[in-house]
Amino acid sequence: MQARPQARTGANRLAVLPHDFIWGASTSSYQIEGGAREGGRGMSIWDTHCRETGRISGGHTGDAACDHYHRYAEDVELMRRLGMRAYRFSVAWPRVLPRGMGKINETGLDFYDRLIDELLDSGIEPWLCLYHWDLPQALDDLGGWTNRDSAGWFADYAALLARRYGDRVRRFATFNEPSVFVLFGYGFGWNAPGVADRSAYFRAMHHVNLAHGRAVDVLRSLAPSASIGAIHNRQKCLPSSSSPEDAHAAALLDQHWNRAFPDAQILGHYPPDLAEAVESWTRPGDIAQICRPIDWFGLNHYAPIYGKATVAPLGFAWGDAPGGIERTDIGWPIHAAAFRDELAGTAVRYRLPIYVLENGYGGREQPDAEGRIDDRRRIDYLDAYIGAMAEAVALGADIRGYFVWSLLDNFEWGSGYNHRFGIVYVDFDSQRRIPKASAEWYAALIRASAGGPPRGEEP
Ligand code: FCB
Repeated sequence: MQARPQARTGANRLAVLPHDFIWGASTSSYQIEGGAREGGRGMSIWDTHCRETGRISGGHTGDAACDHYHRYAEDVELMRRLGMRAYRFSVAWPRVLPRGMGKINETGLDFYDRLIDELLDSGIEPWLCLYHWDLPQALDDLGGWTNRDSAGWFADYAALLARRYGDRVRRFATFNEPSVFVLFGYGFGWNAPGVADRSAYFRAMHHVNLAHGRAVDVLRSLAPSASIGAIHNRQKCLPSSSSPEDAHAAALLDQHWNRAFPDAQILGHYPPDLAEAVESWTRPGDIAQICRPIDWFGLNHYAPIYGKATVAPLGFAWGDAPGGIERTDIGWPIHAAAFRDELAGTAVRYRLPIYVLENGYGGREQPDAEGRIDDRRRIDYLDAYIGAMAEAVALGADIRGYFVWSLLDNFEWGSGYNHRFGIVYVDFDSQRRIPKASAEWYAALIRASAGGPPRGEEP
């Protein structure tokens, strides 16, 4: 399939990017692996959540997903062909430690050995994220992230991965989007483990922060050459109406959504409106343990979000965007300038090199009569957002990589398989992969963007 020649982001627009800018793709274990009952994998909270009636659109589950557990070599070959330099994936904690701690599952560890070796053989740098939401069910049975011991469980898990893969993997991320899985999992109860409880929410928040800091220490000592970061979603928080109450709710949402984790982890304090609620779970020395030096900021962004006033339990609710805004098929507003502003603001606030580790378009596209997928709306979205990223670089933000979400259409949490984020189409009956027009467009962009101003040492 031909890349669309009229794409706006030409090489000149990307000339501001450093010459060694990293182009890649991101995925996560539960969303693509499948093989949920294979190779000794234990249950995760998402296996449980998907079995609860009404949780997931269509009653879908990640049991088979993209069958990446068996087809990883084909998927790596696809990336190689598209010219990607890096691939961010997550390890399924219950695949390597079926009960979350204790007995190790060698078969599970072997799977990631094979994946990592395949990537390295293909010239693609592995970026390993320790946690993309699939907590072992056995640990949830002990309270999950609401249990302070979770920081120790996570540190032990980090040690296992550092020892096993630290010889070949340099890039480690602790958590993907802690504010999403903590707010949606323990505050609103929409995602696994489906808890909606104010106290559970603040405990989980603090323990995930502690777990991050403990894991950073473990990774540093066991994989001394590791380059370590965490991945945070950053979204402009806007009021869902012109009322002052909604303006207040949006400001509060910003503290929970954008700042509860990176402020604690990088600046060493909680945002003002959260500090008191977290305090009852904080022990002396915790903040120093949370705030450990890291090497980069992983930033995920899709769209602005909207706060709406409510009294309980957190003082803000999830609001909808006002009418008249252009949206993706999944319903998320399209607003590339907000992406530029988040990147520029994050660079100033946290003063770390930034890697964009997720950005993408949720569609519903299907192959045409010739079997081709012309996802021009995704191309337009990516073109606008990548252009906005280049503008942030021109404004002075130190941005060193962009990873599209996602390589493959996959299990999109509560939406099941109804929304497709891949630049590669997956036919979930046959598991056939078909690169969409956006995949060829992305490959062309990678080729065209090679060569910009040199930069200093990589962290
Ligand atoms: C992010 C998640 C990722 C994916 C995208 C669309 O919030 O990290 O797993 O679902 O949204």
